[in-house]
Amino acid sequence: MQKILSSTWAKGVLFCVCLVPIGLLVWRVIQNDLTANPSQFLEHRTGDWTLRFVVITLSITPLRKILRLPQLIRFRRMLGLFAFFYGCMHFTCWIWFDKFFNWPDMWADVHKRPYITIGFTGFVLMLPLAITSTAGWIRRLGGKRWQTLHRAIYITGIAGIIHYYWLVKSDVRKPVEYGVVVAILLAWRLGSWIVARRKQVAGATARRPEPTTAESA
Ligand code: HEM
Repeated sequence: MQKILSSTWAKGVLFCVCLVPIGLLVWRVIQNDLTANPSQFLEHRTGDWTLRFVVITLSITPLRKILRLPQLIRFRRMLGLFAFFYGCMHFTCWIWFDKFFNWPDMWADVHKRPYITIGFTGFVLMLPLAITSTAGWIRRLGGKRWQTLHRAIYITGIAGIIHYYWLVKSDVRKPVEYGVVVAILLAWRLGSWIVARRKQVAGATARRPEPTTAESA
């Protein structure tokens, strides 16, 4: 497994796999097979894939550690960028088919409808993450600051779930399922942060020199 994940072609294969959802959508457009409500169908599919890619991106670090596959980190940036790509598609469907590029109407919706407000917040938060995803930006910001900024992907995930929960009228099972997965991922991150912190404190205590007789007197 480690060998496959480290291979040069693994990224290429994953890239092609990530294009399958959009490829299938394009295929359905060509075939004119978009159900009775094409705009809603496209909005829902792209929304689903945005949330799926956000959750997949969030699960890379836990999986890497639990499965002891450090190579998985190679794919995180690409997966995050695909989350942004599907987010852009989702936003485009809405602004095009629902709002007909009427920007004042769009802002009115962002202000008026809470589920749009929260979805929009989640989307906007992805922008700085996509912009700063390059090696140059990691260098410019410094590893620590870059990591802190990129934790915003959790907020996008939570915003996406609330957005989904608020827009479904009756059957909330799907958004709740996503919520449980993200809660587990967050709990895991918090747990490993606490363990690392304890180790750090224990290490610092062990390194502290024993007080001399004069000091302890
Ligand atoms: C610019 C920001 C966004 C806007 C304007 C927006 C708008 C919409 C609209 C209009 C719908 C369909 C509602 C309906 O037909 O009742 C929808 C569905 C959805 N959106 Fe968004 N959204 C945004 C951002 C996001 C983000 C960031 C995520 C995920 C992280 C997301 C995930 C979803 C999901 C999962 C659905 C439901 C799909 C389904 O029912 O299968 N959206 N969104």
